[in-house]
Amino acid sequence: MGTDQLDQLRRDAHAQLDAARTTDELSDWHARYLGRKGALTDAMRQLGALSDEERPAFGKAVNALKTELSDAFEARQEIVRGAQLNEHLASDAIDVTLPGRPVDLGTLHPITQLVREVSSIFAHLGFQTIEGPEVEDAYYAFDALNIPKDHPARDVWDTIFVQSESREIVLRPHTSPMQVRTMERLKPPVRVIVPGRCYRYEALDATHEWHFQQVEGLAVDEHLTMTDLKGTLAEFARQLFGPQRKVRFRCDYFPFVEPGVDFAIDCMVCHGDGCRVCKGTGWIEILGAGMVHPNVLANVGYDPDRYTGWAFGCGFERLAMLKYGITDIRAFYQSDLRFLSQFDRATA
Ligand code: DAH
Repeated sequence: MGTDQLDQLRRDAHAQLDAARTTDELSDWHARYLGRKGALTDAMRQLGALSDEERPAFGKAVNALKTELSDAFEARQEIVRGAQLNEHLASDAIDVTLPGRPVDLGTLHPITQLVREVSSIFAHLGFQTIEGPEVEDAYYAFDALNIPKDHPARDVWDTIFVQSESREIVLRPHTSPMQVRTMERLKPPVRVIVPGRCYRYEALDATHEWHFQQVEGLAVDEHLTMTDLKGTLAEFARQLFGPQRKVRFRCDYFPFVEPGVDFAIDCMVCHGDGCRVCKGTGWIEILGAGMVHPNVLANVGYDPDRYTGWAFGCGFERLAMLKYGITDIRAFYQSDLRFLSQFDRATA
């Protein structure tokens, strides 16, 4: 190989290097010219065939070309890498001017919203909110509430039994057992409300669910009377259903209160004239209440001659149905977003 061929090699190498656009093409080029089996290694090998006069100059020229091509290679590599990076950045670019995709926000279940609202109304009246077990001992669900075994009143609560051999365990059919648990733990004065899930062995229809939520209220102190009960419940109803609500108390029977009452408000749809919602009576019953029975006070070790108390129990679904004009209780627990997402008041 002579200097002419070396010149040709040089031109070819530069031309091909300038044409290399990718890192793969670059490494092919490198193997072809600068690799162990590349053109320059070949050229060096031919040194032996040259005469003593020719050898130094040709050797020098090959070395110089090697350095030149190595530098050119590095420079080209920089350019190719830069171009590839730019290409990558361009294809990955985010258009920050595009409108964002809306994020689906969950909403609080309408009953949860109502539990919080009721809790807040009673908090302002001095009541603490507490919770209790859903799987309950029959003693708390019935016996301690003045409903002894074999008492016909037990049939009122269509109870789901979890265990009935050695010890009767039930899914609580009402929140009233928490009256007993609370009084066992606290000394008077007591003012609590207890929201929570309840369960009953029910045939389902538009007004009956086997699972529902109640709130229990309990106040015990010296000198508490029916007047306190009436005033507090009237205030509660007016905060929930509007300040102009009329209220009505009528006698009712619950084994754990004496006297017992049912509490009604005038119908917010017809204002007392009679319509479908109030079944023509003008009144809507919203809860049961009464003065805590002396036997219940005695069962928790309170002196019934010193302390009196009042209690109430109320179903949340019924309140929500009235408040929002819902006609089928089953809608609450069918997890249908078309129903649930209507209650997206942001109360989180
Ligand atoms: N526990 C009753 C029920 O589920 C409701 C009730 C009535 C609760 C009167 C009370 C009360 O605290 O005094 O049907």
